[in-house]
Amino acid sequence: MSQASSSGLGESAEKPPEGSRRDFLFIATTTFAGFGAAAAVVPFFSQMEPDASTIAAGGPVDIDLKTTAPGQNIVALWRRRPIYILRRPPDLLASLRSPQLIDLLADPGCNVWQQPPYAANWHRSIKPEFLVVVGICTHLGCLPKCFPNASPTVPVAAWPGGYFCPCHGSKYDLAGRVFKGVPAPYNLPVPPYRFVSDTIVRIGENPSGEKFDFDSIVQI
Ligand code: FES
Repeated sequence: MSQASSSGLGESAEKPPEGSRRDFLFIATTTFAGFGAAAAVVPFFSQMEPDASTIAAGGPVDIDLKTTAPGQNIVALWRRRPIYILRRPPDLLASLRSPQLIDLLADPGCNVWQQPPYAANWHRSIKPEFLVVVGICTHLGCLPKCFPNASPTVPVAAWPGGYFCPCHGSKYDLAGRVFKGVPAPYNLPVPPYRFVSDTIVRIGENPSGEKFDFDSIVQI
């Protein structure tokens, strides 16, 4: 059993696969995230993973969410990419349907192919309570940080709650939907996944009968 970390990843985070055009920015942001991330820090949690060779081969990763607190954003690794999993309580879910919020989003209807068909809905997930996204900004590949609570000042003025990419200021809501007028062009990608029990999510495997290919995502 290994460890997964809070949003923003620590300096020990792994980089994406060799040859990725985003390698440099990933490393740079990982280092940056080690500083000033207090607002986004959440406790480490245990992750159920296969052995190292399975991970290296890109096999599925199981994560038990039973100890994940409402509002907590945890980070796991799948195919050497950070996977953010956010537990969304009812009030947070209700906010995702706010017309005021939706007006601010670039693709609230999930029209761009940034998720499997089974996550192309208003909450962009299988279970509304749990968001599962690849935590890599669709601008240049930095790691957005989770600031789930609205704030007048943190991380920026009039913050509505969501994911903030400090590199160039891109903003995503708590369904990984990108805001209009920021550098990032697309919503955060959703990987293939399914629940193998009430609380255990398997990243890298579709639900029965689904054939989603992660390589069909428009932008990672
Ligand atoms: S990499 Fe995220 S805003 Fe540029």
